Amino acid sequence: MAFLFSILTSSPLNVVLPTLVVFFSLIFIYNALQSLFHHFISDGKYSNCSSYGPEKHLLIGSLIPFYKNRRRLLGWYTKLLAESPTGTIVVDRLGARRTIITANPENPFTDILGDLLGCGIFNVDGEAWHVRRKLASHEFSTKSLRDFVVKALKSEVHDRLLPILSSSEKKKKVVDMQDLLRRLAFDNICKITMGTDPGFLDESMPVSELASAFDVAAEISASRGMAPVSAVWKAKRAFGVGSEKRLKVAVELIHGSIMEIIKEKRKGMEMKLVHNDLLSRLIQGGQSNEVIRDMVISFIMAGKDTTSSALTWFFWLLSCNPNVEKEVVREVMQAKEVIGYQELKEMKFLEASLCESMRLYPPVVWDSKHAAGDDQMPDGTRVGGGDRVTYFPYGMGRMEKLWGEDRNEFKPCRWLVGDRREVAPVSPYKFSVFQAGPRVCLGREMAFVQMKYVAAALLRRFKLRRVDKELPVLVPLLTSHMAGGLNMVVEKRVDLLRN
Ligand code: HEM
Repeated sequence: MAFLFSILTSSPLNVVLPTLVVFFSLIFIYNALQSLFHHFISDGKYSNCSSYGPEKHLLIGSLIPFYKNRRRLLGWYTKLLAESPTGTIVVDRLGARRTIITANPENPFTDILGDLLGCGIFNVDGEAWHVRRKLASHEFSTKSLRDFVVKALKSEVHDRLLPILSSSEKKKKVVDMQDLLRRLAFDNICKITMGTDPGFLDESMPVSELASAFDVAAEISASRGMAPVSAVWKAKRAFGVGSEKRLKVAVELIHGSIMEIIKEKRKGMEMKLVHNDLLSRLIQGGQSNEVIRDMVISFIMAGKDTTSSALTWFFWLLSCNPNVEKEVVREVMQAKEVIGYQELKEMKFLEASLCESMRLYPPVVWDSKHAAGDDQMPDGTRVGGGDRVTYFPYGMGRMEKLWGEDRNEFKPCRWLVGDRREVAPVSPYKFSVFQAGPRVCLGREMAFVQMKYVAAALLRRFKLRRVDKELPVLVPLLTSHMAGGLNMVVEKRVDLLRN
């Protein structure tokens, strides 16, 4: 409780202490009443709906088992979901909204990110979302944007990533691939969304303040979502202390920097300079600076760590599965040296391997929504208005009911069908890595272009061997982070098919 300490030392005790006592007492009473309501009243309304989940106690609900498992939520939720006959569990605990977690594909379907995302596409609903979705989906589907994405990738990969790997190979230096891939993805998404180059992967350029601010904001926002008692971060925000103070500073820097870029871009466009980035397209769409800023932040957040997370786990899995690596290399060697969009489309085995890798290690392990009103899931679970409903791609990718007995094995072939070994279409409700329904990920195709390009360019030239032999630990920040990074030794690929 560092924040309590700082308040007590900086403010008059006689005012702050009673305020805090009243504040936390009110929260306790509110939660206790809510808990009693769920136990005795509202369940009557859905008397034939049973819910499964961890052990519960009167008033505090599942707070004790949640607290005990707070550092291993992924494994705990996956075990509870595998044991639940409905594939859904309810975690009802003091200090947080009733949360429903589902790994059941029959169950289709924010204030945590509100400070950072403002009214960007991720954080709005209803009409405001419709307007943004229409605007963005039109831009995402243009051929000119696709060509621009490949062009941006070419320079980032050939001028920055490959020279770094080449130098590490010569010096026999260990590289943290997770770090390099994150830097590459940040540069790339900034080029695509704003037409700017932060040079995060370029060691000769100063450290990007914008990248650091995004990292701080993403980490603190993610920790809000996992806090056992949400009142704690809300109180810190109200008093402007601790991590919430750092979040505020980071968000101000992000908002200010992007606003500057928008103003510069408008000036350039008045001078008839031609740009292909998303920002220029949004400006042409006639939106206000604030709306554009929030859209841009959403795009950067969407593209910043997702593809790099997917590639990190992919390279780790390849290094553990030499037969799959051999097959991927065989395929990428058939493409031209300079890879274009068409060549990428034809890399089916690589695509299947990426899907298989994301099934086991999805970049977004869980994703929550809040129920607008009382409802009931198709599997019978009751949902109360305001409840948090979480679909759980990490658990879904590991359910025997969905993927069979070999669910824990890395087998890209399970995705391929027919003589031409096409990637089989799998329902997004089963493979929910990109979400499903009307709000399905808009950048899925762009993400595959990026991941395939980086993987193909790298694997043609280098072999990556992992340094640490033990199983890596997945830290569920906003995206799946590998604890301690992915340390690898780089070797030149000399004889491609003998390796
Ligand atoms: C492997 C990479 C990626 C994965 C796994 C992924 C996953 C997701 C998921 C789970 C959502 C739903 C979020 C929610 O509603 O809470 C989403 C939405 C979205 N994604 Fe992606 N994403 C990836 C890459 C990208 C990229 C590169 C972009 C490009 C900027 C992008 C743009 C978007 C947008 C704009 C939405 C919001 C859609 C809406 O609300 O209508 N994504 N993505």
